[in-house]
Amino acid sequence: MTRWNEKTSRALIEETHKRGETLTMALRAQVDAFGYVDEAAITPLMQTFARSRAEVLGVIAYYDDFRTTAPGRHVVRLCQAEACQAVGARELTAHMCEKTGLTLGQTSADGALTLEGVYCLGLCANGPAALIDDRPVAELDENRLDTMLDELKV
Ligand code: FES
Repeated sequence: MTRWNEKTSRALIEETHKRGETLTMALRAQVDAFGYVDEAAITPLMQTFARSRAEVLGVIAYYDDFRTTAPGRHVVRLCQAEACQAVGARELTAHMCEKTGLTLGQTSADGALTLEGVYCLGLCANGPAALIDDRPVAELDENRLDTMLDELKV
C-alpha cells in the first residue's frame, strides 16, 4: 500500500480514463494503491469522468470495498453472509469484537487494525471465512483467529 499522494492519485485517474475504464474502475485503482479514496481525489474524479460530487460519493457509498478513510495497517474482514453465519460467524464476530475492542467498520486508535464485515468470499463450504490482509482464510474458530491476530501483533 502506498501512502496517498496527489501525483500518483491523479496519474491513476488519468490512466484509467485514457483506457476507457469507468469511474468505478478509477475508484478501484485508488483503493488498490492507497487503501481508500482520499477526499482530495474526489474533485479530479468528478472533472475527469464528468460526474457530480454526489455521483462520485454515491458510487463510493454503494460498494463496501470503497472507503474514504485510510484503513489500519492490518485489515480483518469477517464474512457475515448466511453460510458462514450457519457455522458460527456471528459468534466469531462477537469474539473478535470483544478481543479487539472494535466493532465492524472501526479502526483502532493506534491505526494497527481495521475490522470489517464482508459478504461471501466464495468459501461457503469452509466457513467461517475471512480475509486477513487480503489473504483468504477458512474454517476459522476462536483459537485460530486469536493466533492469527497475535501473529499480526495488533
Ligand atoms: S457465506 Fe461466507 S464465504 Fe460464502
